[in-house]
Amino acid sequence: IIVEAHDELARLVAGRIATLMREREAAGRQVVLGLATGSTPIGVYRELIRMHREEGLSFAHVISFNLDEYYPMRVESIHSYRRFMWENLFSHVNIDAANVHIPDGALARAEVDAACAAYEDAITAAGGIDFQLLGIGKTGHIGFNEPGSGESSRTRMVHLDSITRRDAAADFFGEENVPREAITMGIATILGAREIAILATGEHKAGVVRRAVEGEIDRAVAATFLQRHANTTFYVDDAAAADL
Ligand code: GLP
Repeated sequence: IIVEAHDELARLVAGRIATLMREREAAGRQVVLGLATGSTPIGVYRELIRMHREEGLSFAHVISFNLDEYYPMRVESIHSYRRFMWENLFSHVNIDAANVHIPDGALARAEVDAACAAYEDAITAAGGIDFQLLGIGKTGHIGFNEPGSGESSRTRMVHLDSITRRDAAADFFGEENVPREAITMGIATILGAREIAILATGEHKAGVVRRAVEGEIDRAVAATFLQRHANTTFYVDDAAAADL
């Protein structure tokens, strides 16, 4: 789906999420959302908050799983994805904190593998992800599945690509402060979602969007694996669609 402006894209995607949330609420069932960080989904979260305030959209039955977190990362750090999610969405809606799941970047290294397995188990126990929101990094990563990530990968610790670390440098006041690792859902975790929306805006994403949509499926660009998913929609603005 190609739209002219970023705002329109946020409205469309938030509208789709809200429809799913309302359907489940009417059926007395929970809904499991896979959520993303980065600048791209902020408009979607803003729109969901607006619907919560103005239209009574309830998050009481929402269970959420975030894609990833830097490692190491203190929970209270201004750079943590946990803090990002509370500031940009969770604090403004009626979600139950017990239903929020975000990989923990503050664990001791020896605890990470078990925590990753527990994260996968929690997704399964919740019934799987109904709707997964994604952005795309310059390397074609989804979550932090950098080039080389395999199709059967699950939640795990990864090394960040140097391009990703350079992209994050401004946020961290210097590349040397960007963590070298992260915990991320894997490609198989993401492909397990029943519906996926991947968002990209701006001319700087045009090249990677083309590669993801039209390029061969290849572990060099993790987003190409989405071509194998039966229910994925790419939402892009005109600028990000320029090379298609
Ligand atoms: C980070 C996140 C990704 C996100 C990417 C793009 O690397 N881990 O999930 O898609 O940034 O961010 P932005 O939306 O700011 O371009």
